[in-house]
Amino acid sequence: MKAIETKGLTKHYQRGSIIALQDFTLSVAPGRIFSLLGPNGAGKTTLIKLLLGIAFPTRGTATLFGEDISNHHVHSRVGYLAENHRFPEFLTANQVLYYYGKMNGMDKAALNERIPQLLELVNLSGWGDTKIRKFSKGMLQRTGLAQAMISEPDLLFLDEPTDGIDPVGRRQIREILEGLRDRGKTIFLNSHLLSEVERVSDEVAIMKKGRLVRTGSVEELISVKQQYLLQIEGSAEILKAICLEQGMSISEQESQYLVSVSDDAQLNYVIDRLRQQEVLITGIIPRKISLEDFFIDVIEEKAEVPA
Ligand SMILES: Nc1ncnc2c1ncn2[C@@H]1O[C@H](COP(=O)(O)OP(=O)(O)OP(=O)(O)O)[C@@H](O)[C@H]1O
Ligand SMILES: [Mg+2]
Repeated sequence: MKAIETKGLTKHYQRGSIIALQDFTLSVAPGRIFSLLGPNGAGKTTLIKLLLGIAFPTRGTATLFGEDISNHHVHSRVGYLAENHRFPEFLTANQVLYYYGKMNGMDKAALNERIPQLLELVNLSGWGDTKIRKFSKGMLQRTGLAQAMISEPDLLFLDEPTDGIDPVGRRQIREILEGLRDRGKTIFLNSHLLSEVERVSDEVAIMKKGRLVRTGSVEELISVKQQYLLQIEGSAEILKAICLEQGMSISEQESQYLVSVSDDAQLNYVIDRLRQQEVLITGIIPRKISLEDFFIDVIEEKAEVPA
């Protein structure tokens, strides 16, 4: 059973003049870290709001763990960390978690047991009695994660959890998320930090103007074309002729040649042909495109459509 499944989910605002989400069909398997990417205004928050039952779809359906989102009890299996959340600064971390636990309907005994476990999970053991005002941004975000985890949800929606956090703090959060995933939790992430998303996500979806435009693992998305920087000695005429014949793109970069091949077989074919003609190859350097490069290409409609 899928953790999240949407079918033709559509949300219009202002009697249809604003299309926030259009025919959005997506599924997220349980136990995965799934990231939703898209430029500002693409509809990411709208999707989360519909799934959380805060806003209502114009059309289409969505389920969480097989249950329709209109059944509110399904949201008891969900935790949520909002973007730019604020906790009252005069409270201690323990008090914040207690407060949210109470709102989740937990009793005092359960919370007394749960809160120290949560603080340990987010590396804040020993900080429970410290006021939130003294926390760094990284500590605040980890407190936010503990808050989202208070009722042991199976599915976590996290809106920009590493925004404004330094690299060490981001790594701590990444490790916490990976630990949760390894315990079977499903994590739905909304982030603009693409290098972070590339590291942590099992799967990624890219949306634009309310529509889903790409989905797949990071590997699948960025290996649509493999690129290699070829270093050869002497003239590049032979290499250029092979590329032309094979329909491969080639560009020159400071007397090295960047060629795009569709697979390993094509790379080896090029090497064989060069060697047959006694071209001396001095280097073959794989060039991986980053998720960020791919994202920009997709948004600017330059990326190739996978077969
Ligand atoms: N309550 C609302 N009433 C009218 N229009 C709305 C409302 N909420 C969102 N929109 C519009 O719907 C579109 C999608 O907005 P949404 O907030 O979902 O985008 P987003 O992908 O989360 O953007 P960001 O990256 O900036 O957070 C935007 O054009 C936005 O202006
Ligand atoms: Mg948003």
